[in-house]
Amino acid sequence: MCGIVGYIGHRDAAVIVVDGLRRLEYRGYDSAGVAVLNGHGIEVRREAGKLAQLESLLVQSPIGGPLGIGHTRWATHGPPVQRNAHPHSSPDAQMVVVQNGIVENFQPLRRLLQDRGYVFHSDTDTEVIVHLIHSHYHNGSERDLIHAVRAAAAELEGPSAIGVICQDDPERLVVVRLGNAGGVVIGHGEGETFLASDIPALLPYTRRMQFLENRQMAILSRDGVEIFDLDGNACDLPVTEISWDADAAEKGEYAHFMQKEIFEQAESIQRTLAHRIDFDHYRVDLPELNLSVDAARALRKLTIVACGTSYYAGLVGKFLIEHLARLPVEVDYASEYRYRSPVFGQDEMVLAITQSGETVDTLAAIEEARDFGVFTAAIVNAVGSQAARVCDGVIYMHAGPEIGVASTKAFTTSLVDMALLGIYLAQARGTMTAETHHALIDELAHLPGLVARLLADARQSGHYADLAARYGERHNFLYLGRGINYPVALEGALKLKEISYIHAEGYPAGEMKHGPIALIDERMPTVVVAPRNSVYDKMVSQIEQVKARNGAVLAVAEEDDAYIRAVADAILPIPPVHELLSPVVAVIPLQLLAYEVAVHRGADVDQPRNLAKSVTVE
Ligand code: AGP
Repeated sequence: MCGIVGYIGHRDAAVIVVDGLRRLEYRGYDSAGVAVLNGHGIEVRREAGKLAQLESLLVQSPIGGPLGIGHTRWATHGPPVQRNAHPHSSPDAQMVVVQNGIVENFQPLRRLLQDRGYVFHSDTDTEVIVHLIHSHYHNGSERDLIHAVRAAAAELEGPSAIGVICQDDPERLVVVRLGNAGGVVIGHGEGETFLASDIPALLPYTRRMQFLENRQMAILSRDGVEIFDLDGNACDLPVTEISWDADAAEKGEYAHFMQKEIFEQAESIQRTLAHRIDFDHYRVDLPELNLSVDAARALRKLTIVACGTSYYAGLVGKFLIEHLARLPVEVDYASEYRYRSPVFGQDEMVLAITQSGETVDTLAAIEEARDFGVFTAAIVNAVGSQAARVCDGVIYMHAGPEIGVASTKAFTTSLVDMALLGIYLAQARGTMTAETHHALIDELAHLPGLVARLLADARQSGHYADLAARYGERHNFLYLGRGINYPVALEGALKLKEISYIHAEGYPAGEMKHGPIALIDERMPTVVVAPRNSVYDKMVSQIEQVKARNGAVLAVAEEDDAYIRAVADAILPIPPVHELLSPVVAVIPLQLLAYEVAVHRGADVDQPRNLAKSVTVE
């Protein structure tokens, strides 16, 4: 995915745009550019590399003006070099375009435009957009930018968010959203309006935002915003007041966003729980889910669809919901779901888990279910995101903005949301004893405090930096878990590999004997998730088997577990907690381990190579 920012108003557009791009750099960071319209026409500055390279270029060769657009890129077509950086210009530099998404039919369009005499200077799909708009703009007597953009949009296939400015139209900025191309947020100021791919870019300037929907166009001017559909009909799009505080999207005293987001998990879990538990009556209520008690009681099957970390959260959800609500749960990679021709029956529900609410595979899975008339819900973090809007019901994570590419607080708040959902369904279906009900709700109430203490101890001890120094040069890791903590092993392995680039594999502990144990030797550390629970004895024997083959064992274990402390090479301590909630605490040491190893290796923690925060292209 990429990041787009636009501005029109009384301030310097280049300053606003670059500042916004800095807050969106987690969306893609292999090249960046900005274009402004001023008395000299449209001036463009583009640079390969991170945003800092563009900022250096702007110091040497500044540009300014009241109207501008900018872009930070995650390359889909063409290498991350200067010629492929956005914005892309029409031949006469009359107009420029930025885009997030993919033009799936860019090859035939490129040939068509070349036949019309257009010369291409980049390898990107985006460049066909600006030439296509230019071609429509000059086709016929009237030079109408809105008509030209609408006509070009009608020819494009694939998800796109497109920003356009034109030299002959200095009072307007045009943006179009086609399909699920990642967010398009419109900000309202006094005598100024803003465009961005995500809320954090605009928070310092305004809290009043609109979220453009599929096949809508927005025309931004100093006086406000007009919204139309692509047939030219005016649309009424609500303005949302964003409650986040601006520094929620800043690092503060932390070295990285990921570090900040790990250490604020006690607060984020607190927010997730807030207003959802009636402690006087020990009841969970999820009004935004829009699932009545009768509908919950009638449910026959739940399918969870998600990607990456969110998929692993779904695997935990399966344990929780089947155990509590006795409801069959299937968990699918969203990227596979729609290709397996899923079979739907009566009284089913599809639940998407997605931090960004913009993951293209997850959105496509939702659409597959909606096409069959299945009730859809989303556990989602990003307010106003596409998933939150298209699903029948929603359970917000309330984790606050998650900027680090490696997901942390979104994972733990997803788990809490699923515990709440499991209890809510169990209440409706009468499948939970009062004892379990009370115990779980009491444990949920104590969870923020347990997490806060775990994080405080970790911060004070420096334990994970020490572990990183001891094991940070290894080339392979194995992560083992069992039962409800098997998905935690998968998540721990993903954290390590995606930010430190060490190969790490999560495995169900019981499978070791069926092959992976051949990997064990003194060079291969094995991380074992072993809280005292129903499979503890099995995990202990697992540790013994690894030790018997000279493998190093790093054990996530309860802080007072003297036995594991004696046999393992290192302990990653956690507090005791109800088995069904244990993944929430067990994952945190694995987040800390991955973070410290990445820091030890000098990796780019918040912007790991090849990745982006939300995958809005297939
Ligand atoms: C996890 O650390 C990664 N950033 C990635 O796997 C992520 O979880 C996945 O892309 C899903 O994103 P979503 O939750 O925004 O849909």
